Amino acid sequence: MTKIPVWLDCDPGVDDAMALALLLKCPEYQLMGVSAVAGNVEEEKTFSNARNLMHFFGGTAPVYPGAKKPLFREPRTAYFVHGENGLGNVTLPESPQKVQTLPAPDAIYEAAKAADGELVLIAIGPLTNVALALMKHGSLGKLIKQIVLMGGSASYGNATPAAEANIFCDPEAASLVFQSGIPIVMCGLDMTLKAIMSPRELDAMAALNPTARFLRDAAQHGLAYSKAHGFDGMALHDPTAVLYPLYPQLFSGEEAGVAVETKGSVTYGKTVTDLYSDKQFPFKNALVMLDVNREGLIAVVMDILNRY
Ligand code: RIB
Ligand code: CA
Repeated sequence: MTKIPVWLDCDPGVDDAMALALLLKCPEYQLMGVSAVAGNVEEEKTFSNARNLMHFFGGTAPVYPGAKKPLFREPRTAYFVHGENGLGNVTLPESPQKVQTLPAPDAIYEAAKAADGELVLIAIGPLTNVALALMKHGSLGKLIKQIVLMGGSASYGNATPAAEANIFCDPEAASLVFQSGIPIVMCGLDMTLKAIMSPRELDAMAALNPTARFLRDAAQHGLAYSKAHGFDGMALHDPTAVLYPLYPQLFSGEEAGVAVETKGSVTYGKTVTDLYSDKQFPFKNALVMLDVNREGLIAVVMDILNRY
């Protein structure tokens, strides 16, 4: 089986943690590396979390530091969902692995060169690292085969009424990525807010093994926030981006033109799509996910986590 070379750029983050746990047990992937970015919590914490998660899950791929702040706007965090430590305030053993110092943009570029144009970049946090990599390494755009990102929405937001959190954290970076010409799969809220894992399903997952139990425990902090916002369970935002390339049959979406609002006050960070508009953009730059087979997705998540 020819493995798919992938890179994971993330801001762990509870759903990022599940995404990494799943990725590490998908033999179809060759994980070239992981990079951390400021997002759900500060980069110092997302970097440390990514390292400790890699160790806890038994992974061996290198983890690299990334951007500590967005390209222009001030950083924002999501303690209210992910807890102050980013993992639902559940602590993990410190990773004994060597601390990588190569910055994410350079590490991504090196991996893309090594993958010889076949690299699939899975981005599940703000797109700051990806944008910096594209700006610093002019040939990178030709070396990345596809970007599968969790972010955006063709309709409502979650960070504001207009904007989804990953995009809202760094709209200018997102705008650059959507204009890069690299084929994009956008796993946005239209689909991910249908990928809700119920508390009962999370408890069934926890019974599988200690890894799954950690993921359930880390999710508890955010469950209260979700419930207060009308969702009884954990939205598997980031796991959908890891699973789409391997299980496309679970998802449905449409090609669209997508542009990111970087000037608006009310609409700052909105991914404007032409999906529901007579007036179309003169480009189609993303496959926008709109629906998911929730039961099928949960079954796949359980099956993969059962491999720990
Ligand atoms: O809007 C959800 C996204 O924002 C997820 O990636 C979550 O981890 C947060 O980063
Ligand atoms: Ca994330």
